[in-house]
Amino acid sequence: MKPPDREQVACALLAFYLDAGVDAVIDEIAADRLDGAAAKGSSAARATAAIADSRPPNAGRAIDRERPVVGRPGHRESVPGPAAPTPPSPDAAVMAAREMARSAGNLDELRAILERFEGCALRATASRLVFADGNPAAPVMFVGEAPGRDEDLAGLPFVGRSGKLLDRMLAAIGLDRSCAYIANIVPWRPPGNRTPTPQESAICLPFVRRQIELADPNLLVCLGQPATQALLGTTDGITRTRGRSFAYHTGAREIRAIPTFHPAYLLRQPLQKRLAWRDFLTIKKALASGG
Ligand code: URA
Repeated sequence: MKPPDREQVACALLAFYLDAGVDAVIDEIAADRLDGAAAKGSSAARATAAIADSRPPNAGRAIDRERPVVGRPGHRESVPGPAAPTPPSPDAAVMAAREMARSAGNLDELRAILERFEGCALRATASRLVFADGNPAAPVMFVGEAPGRDEDLAGLPFVGRSGKLLDRMLAAIGLDRSCAYIANIVPWRPPGNRTPTPQESAICLPFVRRQIELADPNLLVCLGQPATQALLGTTDGITRTRGRSFAYHTGAREIRAIPTFHPAYLLRQPLQKRLAWRDFLTIKKALASGG
């Protein structure tokens, strides 16, 4: 039998990657992210390195791409170029995130810190940081899960289909983005709009907590189960928690938090809008009474 030619092999390999869910190409050469991790020292040392790292976005990626490859075709040998940055371990990244988030004195500083933060791998596949939209001085803050494709392109949260629905829900209780502040648990789009992993959420959580503390709203609205569980520490599903009042400690004071359905869920389950409407009336009442 004739062996497959290189083109057939390449097509089969691409088909395999697509089936495996790969939707973005970052480098021409696969990087073994585990290689040399031990030699880079303790996780705390790597966390410190992550804190200190202030290289411009994608600096490491540009170096990787320019690394020369030598050897016979098909022979996987490369000249060792400048070492690719080793991402910190998840624990170290959470530690670094906590420390960096704490160091932000205001929302502009927090955004600038996030722009530099290299502890979350999503940053490498997203086009840009999606930090927030709306009015940071507003009495109410809405927090969703993670940006999707439209948000990644625009650099703003909730601008796609679910964002349009959120705008209509806000309008129904007399609000718009000039009187609401909007963010996500994870500020980078996960590839293919997949759900963020628990590790990715844990790494980003200190930043959104600090964002809430600095914005200091009177009322926090958690959009959907992931945001509710991450911020309020609940384990029940959203159908049990929605519309109820929880106490949320910002770090400076206690405020009220109300979970409700995520607009993307309401697009798939329009009958649930009835319950979401009740939640929004509760939100309206809470705002009328100061939070
Ligand atoms: N879904 C979210 O959770 N956040 C967005 O910004 C958009 C869609």
